[in-house]
Amino acid sequence: MQVEANRGPIEELDVQALAVAVFKDEKAGDGFLKQLDELSGGFVSSAIEAEEFSGKEGETAYFHLVGNNKLKSRRLLLVGVGEEKDYRSPQVSQMAGTAVRSLRSKNVKTIAVVPRVSGKDEETGARAVEGAFIAVFDPDKYRTIDKEQKTVDRLVVAIQGGDQGALDRGVKTGKVVGESINFTRDLANEPGAYMTPTDMAERARDIANEFGLSIDVLDEARMEQEGMGSLLSVARGSEEPAKLIILKYTPANADGDNKELLALVGKGVTFDSGGISLKPGENMELMKYDMTGAATVMGAMRAIAQLKPSIPILGVAPCTENLPSGKATKPGDVVKAMTGKTIEIINTDAEGRLILADAIAYAKKLGATRVIDMATLTGAVSIALGDVNAAVLGTDQQLIDEIISAGREVGEKFWQLPLDKEYSKQIKSDIADIKNVGGRKAGTITAAAFIKEFADGVAWAHLDIAGTAWGDEAKPYRSKGPTGIAVRTLLRIVDRASAK
Ligand code: BES
Ligand code: MG
Ligand code: ZN
Repeated sequence: MQVEANRGPIEELDVQALAVAVFKDEKAGDGFLKQLDELSGGFVSSAIEAEEFSGKEGETAYFHLVGNNKLKSRRLLLVGVGEEKDYRSPQVSQMAGTAVRSLRSKNVKTIAVVPRVSGKDEETGARAVEGAFIAVFDPDKYRTIDKEQKTVDRLVVAIQGGDQGALDRGVKTGKVVGESINFTRDLANEPGAYMTPTDMAERARDIANEFGLSIDVLDEARMEQEGMGSLLSVARGSEEPAKLIILKYTPANADGDNKELLALVGKGVTFDSGGISLKPGENMELMKYDMTGAATVMGAMRAIAQLKPSIPILGVAPCTENLPSGKATKPGDVVKAMTGKTIEIINTDAEGRLILADAIAYAKKLGATRVIDMATLTGAVSIALGDVNAAVLGTDQQLIDEIISAGREVGEKFWQLPLDKEYSKQIKSDIADIKNVGGRKAGTITAAAFIKEFADGVAWAHLDIAGTAWGDEAKPYRSKGPTGIAVRTLLRIVDRASAK
């Protein structure tokens, strides 16, 4: 999909379809809609007057403009965007996404979206293009029969009288962000057999080479040398060797005195069977997406390498399978993490925290001062927050607040759960320093309390994305399947820190 910005009059846009944002209960009697109504030959007012279309979020109305109209485009799609007072970046992204998915299904190849925001051209251009890319991702990569082959070739973001320079910058950013989110979604969507830890490392090398990041991949021998007994304990049952992927972005004019280093750390369990504590068979196929945290880190780093913020960023992705075998770690075993802490394994299905423990310790060794980890960590987070909010917990309230507010700006919801020290009692072990599960109560919190043991000395926040990383249903603006949750929020945090 080719993307561009246009600041000229909408009647001259040379595309097959024009998609225009319309606010809830907006009338065609004045302002922009009046202009559009006249240009289209009365279709807009007629749909609104007939109460066929009210501008509700996600609602659409579609017209073929035959006969008398003054628009070059022969088709018009009205896209409801809800209340004007609530219309912000997330709604712009969804509006463009809804337009692209709806028009693509009608075999439209060239589209101009008219988001109707003024004065924020770079941001608007970026969000519209990002939304369009998110919209065209489909999870049916391996379908060979009855496959819909419709594609959109060209997308124009149209803001009459806009600032061409700002729009062009926005369009460029939006493409980088949208493609990087889809990169994350593609990795998450791959079957376990096609996305092993070795495959993850290869994809990481590809982005490092293509976009200019430094990369180091620790194999099991090096993990052994580092004393990463916790990470290695998860890999023991698998024939596939574990990999610890390290990506680093360094800004061109790196300030040698600045000692701040933000690390993004993501869980990369490329298939989670539960190990000896085997999961039930139902829905186990979805455990291919248990590497979404790692994929999120890689997608964010892919974008960061191109957006070139002024601060350095470290990306850390511990990758392994979690399988049962004669060599697998057993409940009751005790393992020693890189920090020297000993862990009693109660349940081998609580493996994410085990690999994050050593990954965070290693991020600290590499100089991280702020750590955001993300993981499809607990089923309990879906019970608490469903698929609407991801959980955020941590030890640094400022970082947590930053995540919540960045998320709000880009349309990703994070809800903070408490992490009082009392919860840590639940993970005390009788035989070792700590154990890897804390009983039935507060499962998302005790998982975070476990990770906290390895995140001392840094500003730390943890995102549990188990409930939000996979969409069971399609939305008007995106397919079902992997959502790419958190990539945009992380990029917004980096962008803000870079601007400081
Ligand atoms: N990968 C799962 C968590 C998960 C569940 C992700 C559902 C996505 C959807 C994780 O490794 C796990 O199995 N957690 C256990 C922890 C328990 C044994 C303490 C869980 O949530 O049941
Ligand atoms: Mg192994
Ligand atoms: Zn598990």
